[in-house]
Amino acid sequence: MEAPEISDDGFEILRPFVEAARALWRQELDDEQRWRKIAELMPLLLDSDPLRDKARSWPAPAADRARAQNLLFYEDPDYHFVINGLIKNGDEITPIHDHAHTWTVYGVLSGHERVVRFKRRDDAAQSDRATLDPIDDYVVAPGYVDLVPPGLLHAEYAGGERTVAIIVRSERVGDFPQTMVDPATRAVTHAPGPAQLRWRL
Ligand SMILES: [Fe+2]
Repeated sequence: MEAPEISDDGFEILRPFVEAARALWRQELDDEQRWRKIAELMPLLLDSDPLRDKARSWPAPAADRARAQNLLFYEDPDYHFVINGLIKNGDEITPIHDHAHTWTVYGVLSGHERVVRFKRRDDAAQSDRATLDPIDDYVVAPGYVDLVPPGLLHAEYAGGERTVAIIVRSERVGDFPQTMVDPATRAVTHAPGPAQLRWRL
């Protein structure tokens, strides 16, 4: 395996998950099957005491920062999946957004969040104002693992405390447009997703 772009110490924490995930790319699986299995591997990260220790010092982006930011811990040299950290300050909310064509597994390490998922009723190709129906509304807590398929609109509302999530994505985001919907006006825009800050564990 090619050397990852992170320190060896840090990689040892991720290694059990990375090796199990890489094995899934060597199997004949469709995307949904593979990502359901990746979700099942998340306890290898979420139950890791060393990872939890490291997470205490991960920085939250500045509250006035316009663009979301992920810490980038690992990018697979062969299969291109990535492992991100996302730290939210208490009461932070995301716009309604999708993750474009990528698959996402979202695991909560600490804190609580409310997640609302939406279905778009209007014709996305014709309209710059979305008509949305909420289709799911639930609270996620440490250990919870959420699977987000391509194109699914959702918003996250952090609880009162700092929230830390570990995210596994099918590829690095930030360089291609994702759909954003203004929660008040429902105006649709397309903008790059979270900035990626490479971070040594
Ligand atoms: Fe999201």
